[in-house]
Amino acid sequence: MASRFSSFVLISCLVIASSPVHVSSSAHLVKGLSWSFYEKSCPKVESVIRKHLKKVFEKDIGQAAGLLRVHFHDCFVKGCDGSVLLDGSANEPSEQDAPPNRSLRRTAFKIIDDLSQLVEKKCGQVVSCADIAAIAARDSVFLSGGPEYDVPLGRRDGLTPATENVVIENIPAPTENASEILSALAKKNFDATDVVALSGGHTIGLAHCTAFENRLYPTQDPTMEKTFAHDLKGVCPTTNSTNTTVLDIRSPNRFDNKYFVDLMNRQGLFTSDQDLYEDPTTRDIVTSFAEDQELFFEKFVLAMTKMGQLSVLTGTKGEIRANCSVRNSENPDLLKYVVEEDLESYAELK
Ligand code: HEM
Ligand SMILES: *[C@@H]1O[C@H](CO)[C@@H](O)[C@H](O)[C@H]1NC(C)=O
Ligand SMILES: *[C@@H]1O[C@H](CO)[C@@H](O)[C@H](O)[C@H]1NC(C)=O
Ligand SMILES: *[C@@H]1O[C@H](CO)[C@@H](O)[C@H](O)[C@H]1NC(C)=O
Ligand SMILES: *[C@@H]1O[C@H](CO)[C@@H](O)[C@H](O)[C@H]1NC(C)=O
Ligand SMILES: *[C@@H]1O[C@H](CO)[C@@H](O)[C@H](O)[C@H]1NC(C)=O
Repeated sequence: MASRFSSFVLISCLVIASSPVHVSSSAHLVKGLSWSFYEKSCPKVESVIRKHLKKVFEKDIGQAAGLLRVHFHDCFVKGCDGSVLLDGSANEPSEQDAPPNRSLRRTAFKIIDDLSQLVEKKCGQVVSCADIAAIAARDSVFLSGGPEYDVPLGRRDGLTPATENVVIENIPAPTENASEILSALAKKNFDATDVVALSGGHTIGLAHCTAFENRLYPTQDPTMEKTFAHDLKGVCPTTNSTNTTVLDIRSPNRFDNKYFVDLMNRQGLFTSDQDLYEDPTTRDIVTSFAEDQELFFEKFVLAMTKMGQLSVLTGTKGEIRANCSVRNSENPDLLKYVVEEDLESYAELK
């Protein structure tokens, strides 16, 4: 507890110039997760990750959006167990970006692999890929201008990749309306405030035309602001265009509350975004976040902390992967190691 408090003070002092917001979550923790999980085994894990990501984002801040989305997909599909990171998972980038094949940025997986190698060099094979993804998502938010917050740690990596059907069942489609999104997320125990706050993740990043062309063709969605619709038709001149555009036109790379201002101006990109303002169930929540960024940050942190604990593996379940892209049982480097060890113990026996 004492060291958590001192790191809180230190971080607050360092970031005061860029972002004074540090949300301390009083959220309930599931059994097996803790705020100080690597205090003894890898005390530097969070500083190693932040230092590397600062460098990555200085070159390309767009990578922050990719990393935030990876953690969301990880948690929604089978729980936050790093299963989306596995090669051969249905979340892997495929050639088709069309929904329901919402491909994640290939570079995000590479960054997580790099982070895991850096952390392993520092501490050995003790930090899970699922925890690295959760910390990287938090850093993506913070280094883009969003709130600082603590992430409970202690997740373990799963042993099975996500199949395509499991992905499709668990990741909502951008063409869904607010009532569909609300009922889908209610099954994971998120209330309306959580849903609106989590959707605020769309304050950074990009989307492909195929994710929102339903609002342009064959008929233009009447709720969409006219100039915005006209510009989007320039980005996506026909259906099935491979072009992309920003999710938040006011501040595309900054984690702030402008996404909610977009919605109030009917400049939300997806049906699932814009309908949060059209639907009376969520309209007032959108307005309150557009008016009060600190309120948005506070609710976002609560919802992310909840999301980050969905069906986690803890204790002795799962494993700590040596390579985030492959299970240990299929990792050729580890197999070599195991064989050598076996030979040694065999020699000892003789
Ligand atoms: C509520 C239901 C959600 C739906 C329907 C949805 C849908 C989508 C879609 C279709 C894309 C664009 C993918 C593409 O065309 O390449 C996207 C991008 C993104 N989503 Fe969501 N999403 C949802 C929730 C979330 C949540 C909870 C977060 C994180 C807190 C999030 C963060 C992002 C980010 C950061 C991007 C940009 C990724 C990039 O630039 O690589 N989304 N989302
Ligand atoms: C999704 O990807 C699978 C496998 O790559 C492919 O068979 C399917 O046609 C794709 N679906 C869409 C809608 O793009
Ligand atoms: C939302 O979509 C569902 C499925 O298409 C539809 O049945 C429902 O009427 C829609 N709700 C609203 C409020 O538009
Ligand atoms: C892609 O979008 C840009 C505007 O962002 C537009 O100028 C360009 O023509 C589009 N490209 C294609 C192939 O549609
Ligand atoms: C776009 O792709 C979908 C599915 O891949 C296909 O059904 C549709 O005919 C295509 N539309 C155009 C205009 O090419
Ligand atoms: C991790 O596994 C992937 C996929 O098999 C491989 O391409 C990569 O080189 C491995 N990384 C390391 C550091 O061994």
